[in-house]
Amino acid sequence: MTTGHPELVAAIASEIKALGPIPFARFMELALYHPQFGYYMRAPEGTGERIGWQGDYYTSSDVHPILGQALARQAEQIDRLLGQPDPFTVVEMGPGKGLLAKHFLSACAPSFRQRLRYVLIDRSPAMRDMQRRNLSEWLNEPGLIAWEDHLNELAPSSITGLLFSNELVDAFPVHRVQVTDGRTEELHVDYRDGRFIECLKPLSAVALATQLQHLHHDWPEGYRTEVNLQALDWTKQVAQRMKRGFVLTIDYGHTAHDLYGPERKNGTFLCYSRHSANESPFLEIGVQDMTAHVDFSSLAAAGEPHGLHVTGFTNQLSFLMGLGVETMVAELEPESPEFRAAIHLLKPNGMGGTFKVLVQHKGVECAALDGLKYKPFWGSALTGLESNVTA
Ligand SMILES: C[S@@+](CC[C@H](N)C(=O)[O-])C[C@H]1O[C@@H](n2cnc3c(N)ncnc32)[C@H](O)[C@@H]1O
Repeated sequence: MTTGHPELVAAIASEIKALGPIPFARFMELALYHPQFGYYMRAPEGTGERIGWQGDYYTSSDVHPILGQALARQAEQIDRLLGQPDPFTVVEMGPGKGLLAKHFLSACAPSFRQRLRYVLIDRSPAMRDMQRRNLSEWLNEPGLIAWEDHLNELAPSSITGLLFSNELVDAFPVHRVQVTDGRTEELHVDYRDGRFIECLKPLSAVALATQLQHLHHDWPEGYRTEVNLQALDWTKQVAQRMKRGFVLTIDYGHTAHDLYGPERKNGTFLCYSRHSANESPFLEIGVQDMTAHVDFSSLAAAGEPHGLHVTGFTNQLSFLMGLGVETMVAELEPESPEFRAAIHLLKPNGMGGTFKVLVQHKGVECAALDGLKYKPFWGSALTGLESNVTA
């Protein structure tokens, strides 16, 4: 069955009629980011929202400000390590509603904020409007906040400071592959008799074949998974724009060893609608979110040739602990809604463990950042060369 935003369904169907079956990644790109009708690109209907308690899913900044507060602490330490440059640039990519930026800016020391240039990059005009509304209290501070639609609008080597994202990379369209008759084939989307259907075809891109070789996979018959090629390109673009500083990527995901292991034989692709998950991308097209877990090993490897080196890898609980979350939580009234919300972000079997934090650096020495004080991963877990131990 096919349901969804009628104009979007028609636009995808007409592309398939013209070109034949399209790779799943192209279908996902159109469903989420079609310039007029895509899920993220349209303003939500009525008084609804995409992200939040009234939306399809929530993120850490909907729960409690501690992540934004901890990021501000981490940025202030990085600022000291870089010798307090003027300006210190923070680039936040995929800021969604802009709540993390709001919490970050509210937590910064005024003397740091005076040198701060906070750039928000989001490809969605609807999200950029929402960010402007949520950041209205800061808009009168000259030079503090700027917006760009795309990363490539920043000049090469223009960032001295910190680039961070929360749940950006899991929102990139993914290629989906499946092992069939001993070969790895790619899921494509066809349109027949008024319905979208899946079909398997040979790999659509050389880059996909190359990435599959890098993964050294030995998957059994029927194994299905995702490859996020856009994440690799994004890492390269980020590296090229960094001059001196750190890149901090927060998302749900795993090392390649864990993500592509035998226990995830159906992959991690999911759709979210009104806080419930399903595996049906052809339902509610353009009305529900689509996402897949992030392969942090490949992000780490993609940065290396461009001078972006791994500083460390941890999970959200350990990251927040390293930045003093215990003191922050101790200041909250025990058992108050705020206290329970903050704890929600720390749960080892919930957001605290599922969300990982990858830190990379360029143009500076590898530094002992506070957010990396506690590490649930050992040795070269990210490269999959040694077994890793999770908290
Ligand atoms: C899952 S939301 C995350 C929102 C926010 N970071 C949070 O924590 O609530 C993903 C956001 O990334 C944006 N996005 C997706 N691809 C992007 C890209 N290539 N460049 C900039 N923004 C992008 C989407 O428009 C959306 O606002």
